[in-house]
Amino acid sequence: MTLNGKTVLVTGGTGGIGKETARGLARLDARVVLVGRDPGRADAAAVELQRDTGNGNVDALTADLTRRRDLHRLADQVTARYGSLDVLINNVGVTRERRELTEDGIETAFAANVVAPYTLTHLLLPALKRVPAARVINITGGIPRGRINLDNLQGEKSYVGLSFYNQTKLALMAMSYTFAERLTGTGVTLNVAYPGHAYTAMNQGLTIHTYPTLARPVVPLLRLALPVLYGHRAVVKASRSSIYLASSPQAQGIHGTYLNSRSQPTAWPDAVRDQRNRDTIWALCEKLAG
Ligand SMILES: NC(=O)c1ccc[n+]([C@@H]2O[C@H](COP(=O)([O-])OP(=O)(O)OC[C@H]3O[C@@H](n4cnc5c(N)ncnc54)[C@H](OP(=O)(O)O)[C@@H]3O)[C@@H](O)[C@H]2O)c1
Repeated sequence: MTLNGKTVLVTGGTGGIGKETARGLARLDARVVLVGRDPGRADAAAVELQRDTGNGNVDALTADLTRRRDLHRLADQVTARYGSLDVLINNVGVTRERRELTEDGIETAFAANVVAPYTLTHLLLPALKRVPAARVINITGGIPRGRINLDNLQGEKSYVGLSFYNQTKLALMAMSYTFAERLTGTGVTLNVAYPGHAYTAMNQGLTIHTYPTLARPVVPLLRLALPVLYGHRAVVKASRSSIYLASSPQAQGIHGTYLNSRSQPTAWPDAVRDQRNRDTIWALCEKLAG
């Protein structure tokens, strides 16, 4: 299998699961565009992947995906530089200890995990539609179960970092479900992948206050166990579902589907299928994307 001649963009491709996803796709000979916030880190990651895979077509771009102006600049750069895009992997995910607003006045985790994939996919749709069968892959996470509190979509009422992160991932899935419905028949497919647990910068950076109160006593134990149980091999494993969706010929017809970490189609959570949840989240994304 080769992705020669195809252009793939991976947000958060400079570290963690995104970098392993980018590495896997570079091995398949795609032109890979990595996105991170820091130019030094992004260039270093591109050079590392070029060296490791022997693929010289790994480029780095910078954008902070929590900023509306960066999302627009990124989409303009991608469109100007590559013209068309075969695969967009909205991989960046953010957890915060406390509620913070972005410069656009959006709660930060909601901005990164829900509004950014919504906005970037919209802005890049013309480039995606220039190829016959473009693929968009949104990465979920946390424990994607339970309810979505429509009164607390941006943590206005209560905020416990990891619980809120979980809700943003359900909201991402609800937005993705609707987006997929709207893309049906356009030639662009959109799916959601669950990567599986991996001890990356995201988990390493979690403070004790990010955990729900009841879980806090076991956090010291988790900090000892997670690096052993979910080290580098887990990070590589966690890249598989998105690499499958991005590259496999069998994935060509998959659309509007939620895949688990073993790349198997899985039932969407009830909260995601709920029409009121989906309509409310879509309308909020429309408003916040500006
Ligand atoms: N790790 C897990 O156990 C796990 C489990 C389930 C799902 N997931 C999901 O999988 C995805 C990847 O997770 P991960 O653990 O690899 O995360 P991570 O380690 O935090 O990812 C780091 C990458 O994200 C980039 N990034 C972070 N914030 C950004 C921002 N505001 N704008 C642009 N880039 C940003 C970083 O770029 P720079 O630092 O270079 O700017 C780096 O490339 C996320 O969606 C996460 O929710 C993770």
